[in-house]
Amino acid sequence: MKTEKLALITGGSGGLGAKLACELAKKGYQPVLVGRSEERLRAAAMDCGGEIFVCDLSKREECEHLYEAFRRRPVQILINCAGFGVYGSFAATSLDEEMEMAAVNCMAVHVLTKLFLPDMERRGGSILNVASSAGLVPGGPYMAAYYATKAYVVSLTRGIEEELRARRSRAYVGAFCPGPVNTGFFDRAGISASVGSADPDKTARAAIRGMEKRKSLIVPGASNAMTYFAARILPSALILAVNRRIQQKKGQGREDAKEEKKR
Ligand SMILES: NC(=O)c1ccc[n+]([C@@H]2O[C@H](COP(=O)([O-])OP(=O)(O)OC[C@H]3O[C@@H](n4cnc5c(N)ncnc54)[C@H](OP(=O)(O)O)[C@@H]3O)[C@@H](O)[C@H]2O)c1
Repeated sequence: MKTEKLALITGGSGGLGAKLACELAKKGYQPVLVGRSEERLRAAAMDCGGEIFVCDLSKREECEHLYEAFRRRPVQILINCAGFGVYGSFAATSLDEEMEMAAVNCMAVHVLTKLFLPDMERRGGSILNVASSAGLVPGGPYMAAYYATKAYVVSLTRGIEEELRARRSRAYVGAFCPGPVNTGFFDRAGISASVGSADPDKTARAAIRGMEKRKSLIVPGASNAMTYFAARILPSALILAVNRRIQQKKGQGREDAKEEKKR
């Protein structure tokens, strides 16, 4: 009989999460897609032959419930992919929305990593935390809180990874830091998609490759790698100023599109 190998993917109802689930299914894992929208989860599960688990990850008790539901099953991979961005001047964005974002992007990643890691250390297993290139730069004007959540994910993951490495743990944790990817992320954030956004299928494959190589930080694509390199060698003030212009344009692009629709 074939042994069950489960891969839990939060944010599996669409975008990158759904693509990651399909890639893992091709490698013989049974994907479990986690998200809030049952309808979208079902549609994504049809594509990859996975199970679904409906759950609002902005609530700690629902993260704990997810763990309780799967702790006795052979979860070999956990990908914390659920997340979203809030766009706008920090003075104008909604505090409630930002607190929800911090809960999904940081709290859920933290709680699920904390809960699943001991089992993975015992049995072997991998946790991939989806951060962003946003987490590798000094800050993101007009998406300040989003960038901060991703810096949290990178820092948390790399700290844990070093602890695991030092004690030769059987478990792996890594942070995945893509640049812009062509998904529903931009609509949700209310901004226009970046020119040259990466293909989600390719991005998902890069994530899985990096995870298989047990890389602590996975930065896919040449331009993204360049950004990361630049952020380490150039003055922070310069990076922030350039990023401010880029972010302003993304918001402006959306305003222009709205005006165009009205006409
Ligand atoms: N697209 C990009 O340019 C880009 C770049 C770098 C990093 N990322 C990161 O990649 C990850 C996936 O984003 P994406 O691009 O695939 O965007 P997406 O298409 O908007 O998908 C976001 C996913 O997060 C889930 N989600 C949001 N809030 C949730 C909640 N409260 N509880 C459970 N699930 C929730 C959504 O499912 P439901 O709506 O069903 O709940 C959906 O499956 C995010 O962490 C994002 O920050 C994206």
